[in-house]
Amino acid sequence: MKVSTLIGSLALGALPSVNAAPGSQFERDSAAVAAEIIRRALPNAPNGYTPTNVTCPSTRPTIRSAAKLSTNETSWLEVRRNKTITPMKEFFNHVTVGDFDVGAYIDKHSANVSNLPNIAIAASGGGYRAMLNGAGGIKAFDSRVKNATASGHLGGLLQSATYVAGLSGGSWLVGSIFINNFTSVADLQTYSSGEPWQLGNNIFEGPDTGGLQVLDTAEYYTDLAEAYEDKKKAGFATSLTDVWGRALAFQMFNASKGGIDYTWSSIAKTQDFIDGNYPMPLVVADSRTTGEIIASSYSTVFEFNPWEFGTFDPTLYAFAPLEYLGSRFENGSIASNETCVRGYDNAGFVIGTSATLFNEVITELGTNSSGITAWAENILTDLFADFDSSDDDIASYDPNPFYGYNDDSLASTTGLDVVDGGEDGQNVPLHPLIQPERAVDIIFAIDSSADTDYYWPNGTSLVATYERSLNVTGIGNGTAFPAIPDQNTFINLGLNTRPTFFGCNSTNITGTAPIVVYLANAPYSSQSNTSTYQMTYEDWQRDNIITNGYEVVTRGNGTLDGNFTACVGCAILSRSFERTGTTLPDICTQCFTDYCWNGTTNSTTPNTYAPVDILASSQAGLFITPTALTAFAAVTAAFFAMV
Ligand SMILES: *[C@@H]1O[C@H](CO)[C@@H](O)[C@H](O)[C@H]1NC(C)=O
Ligand SMILES: *[C@@H]1O[C@H](CO)[C@@H](O)[C@H](O)[C@H]1NC(C)=O
Ligand SMILES: *[C@@H]1O[C@H](CO)[C@@H](O)[C@H](O)[C@H]1NC(C)=O
Ligand SMILES: *[C@@H]1O[C@H](CO)[C@@H](O)[C@H](O)[C@H]1NC(C)=O
Ligand SMILES: *[C@@H]1O[C@H](CO)[C@@H](O)[C@H](O)[C@H]1NC(C)=O
Ligand SMILES: *[C@@H]1O[C@H](CO)[C@@H](O)[C@H](O)[C@H]1NC(C)=O
Ligand SMILES: *[C@@H]1O[C@H](CO)[C@@H](O)[C@H](O)[C@H]1NC(C)=O
Ligand SMILES: *[C@@H]1O[C@H](CO)[C@@H](O)[C@H](O)[C@H]1NC(C)=O
Ligand SMILES: *[C@@H]1O[C@H](CO)[C@@H](O)[C@H](O)[C@H]1NC(C)=O
Ligand SMILES: *[C@@H]1O[C@H](CO)[C@@H](O)[C@H](O)[C@H]1NC(C)=O
Ligand SMILES: *[C@@H]1O[C@H](CO)[C@@H](O)[C@H](O)[C@H]1NC(C)=O
Ligand SMILES: *[C@@H]1O[C@H](CO)[C@@H](O)[C@H](O)[C@H]1NC(C)=O
Repeated sequence: MKVSTLIGSLALGALPSVNAAPGSQFERDSAAVAAEIIRRALPNAPNGYTPTNVTCPSTRPTIRSAAKLSTNETSWLEVRRNKTITPMKEFFNHVTVGDFDVGAYIDKHSANVSNLPNIAIAASGGGYRAMLNGAGGIKAFDSRVKNATASGHLGGLLQSATYVAGLSGGSWLVGSIFINNFTSVADLQTYSSGEPWQLGNNIFEGPDTGGLQVLDTAEYYTDLAEAYEDKKKAGFATSLTDVWGRALAFQMFNASKGGIDYTWSSIAKTQDFIDGNYPMPLVVADSRTTGEIIASSYSTVFEFNPWEFGTFDPTLYAFAPLEYLGSRFENGSIASNETCVRGYDNAGFVIGTSATLFNEVITELGTNSSGITAWAENILTDLFADFDSSDDDIASYDPNPFYGYNDDSLASTTGLDVVDGGEDGQNVPLHPLIQPERAVDIIFAIDSSADTDYYWPNGTSLVATYERSLNVTGIGNGTAFPAIPDQNTFINLGLNTRPTFFGCNSTNITGTAPIVVYLANAPYSSQSNTSTYQMTYEDWQRDNIITNGYEVVTRGNGTLDGNFTACVGCAILSRSFERTGTTLPDICTQCFTDYCWNGTTNSTTPNTYAPVDILASSQAGLFITPTALTAFAAVTAAFFAMV
């Protein structure tokens, strides 16, 4: 049976209790909710999930070269950089750097904010583990969170930042915060049944909206299938990512029908964002041609910023206006006999695109969950029969906005295949943040990758970005990056069990690069190395991983080193002090000895990396042994039978 037929039979009451029937209480409730959230200016898609023809604006959208930042970004930066001054002063109120008066320093240079620190935060991929560990970091950096501005904590860093980048699982985090009106992680943790971050109900079940789960699930499956079918009917190429992105949106966005009419480009139209009241979100993905396996040495890395979709890489080197994705661009413009399209950049589709490795998970819909009836399962089984399995893990961007724009091979096809941002090995979204035009001084790089046998990071992502940057005239295209040692060194020297700063000595870098504060997931108060494909998290486990992530970035709130926050302060100020010819306070010398990688390597093959309980003290019961973990991993792997 076709999906549409199934949907039809549902609506006609073959299952009388499905609440989505026209005129039902559900429909009235969601209309009321929609009316309420409209003030947020975010749900601005013209027709739900379906990209729709609209009249072009008087200045017709065009593709532009990546030689400069967009004028949208440069004018926004003028506003935002000024807005970081007050939060930065507040941050340095509780993060003291010896007896240096940072407040006075900031005041002295505030008339020329480009002299002050330009801060970015990056959250890696790695499924829900990465979303939650990254969330712990963001929570620790957020001055709105209770106790985050106490001594030993780092609250206010988020408010002082210019950019926040996310990739794959990290993009779910970034989406959850920015699509929900720049909410805080603490608030995301307080939601209840049917609302965001209820990961106890997994993506196969859909949200628990209070009724019988079987019926909730039916309505959810119907929504997923309908969105997909409608986009297809409107004549657009579809892919598994359309279903996956919709499903994710139900877990991440606090709006009716999983925020079906929320676009990514609407972030740029939100008043608080326009006013520079919070940082700019960036989501990273890669492109891939059919059958290709990509590596960092030649991948083309794309970003979604609030205005545009495109790449700084020398291959394509172009940006398209995000709001008008789906329009038929050719040779950089939309022909006069063609119309503009809006609504293609559905926010769920964007975070699904960054995380296409999980598309395969969605094909498990309905097969892995108890309580899901056979007919519900059929809806999606049928839907998935539509896809060519070799393309399971792509997001189809068709029409390709870059078609004919230049002579790069990515501009030669009418469709563009976009894949998970981590597929080229650069699992921390550093790429947008090391573009010289953005002049970032420091990146807080939260790495939740599963590099080792027990799903801990071992520096692989930084190595990939470093190696890429060495091809200065090629794929690196003028980006510089601090020297990074091999992965054995990371493990042997413990660079992944405590925060490590790279690039402290700017004169040892060819070109201009930020300091990278590497914050690798490690067990502080709980064993946060869950499988990338663990799909269900009870609230307690979610919260434990978030708390652990908080401790990863604060060294256990300073319990492991009372000077740690001062050292973070030194790293933040370092490049700014170079620009203004200011000498770093004495405490920074000790800090840099303690936290900057000094060029030492030890490349001998390490023993199995299985760290436990870094905070050494109790918190008993939360730790599981490597053996138990292996057993769990085997079960999970068998469960999903996937790469
Ligand atoms: C968004 O957040 C801001 C700042 O907290 C608040 O003033 C505003 O009312 C919120 N908007 C909506 C629609 O919730
Ligand atoms: C971005 O800049 C262009 C050109 O100045 C302008 O037309 C457009 O409205 C801007 N977009 C937003 C969302 O402000
Ligand atoms: C930023 O602050 C500087 C110095 O106070 C001021 O000259 C400039 O106009 C401000 N920029 C914006 C966009 O407010
Ligand atoms: C905040 O700190 C106080 C005092 O140390 C403590 O009692 C309280 O539990 C903390 N709250 C949170 C949310 O950590
Ligand atoms: C980056 O690539 C573009 C397009 O190939 C090229 O025009 C530009 O000069 C390159 N920039 C650097 C710094 O190499
Ligand atoms: C617009 O014109 C081009 C070239 O003449 C043609 O190929 C295309 O089909 C036309 N598009 C529409 C919507 O008529
Ligand atoms: C949208 O416009 C294009 C021409 O640009 C046309 O081919 C297509 O049929 C239109 N779609 C709808 C649903 O009207
Ligand atoms: C580090 O991670 C990479 C990528 O997963 C893996 O191939 C390599 O064996 C790991 N090395 C060590 C020493 O853990
Ligand atoms: C450097 O980049 C260029 C252009 O992307 C590529 O053709 C070349 O193979 C790269 N060189 C190395 C050593 O990776
Ligand atoms: C920084 O790097 C430069 C160039 O390699 C070197 O001469 C200098 O000694 C280094 N400074 C420190 C403090 O290590
Ligand atoms: C660190 O602070 C967080 C947030 O207040 C708290 O949940 C956690 O228990 C603290 N951890 C330690 C080791 O103090
Ligand atoms: C300094 O630069 C050299 C050459 O790139 C590199 O091998 C070395 O590891 C760097 N040292 C530090 C401390 O980054």
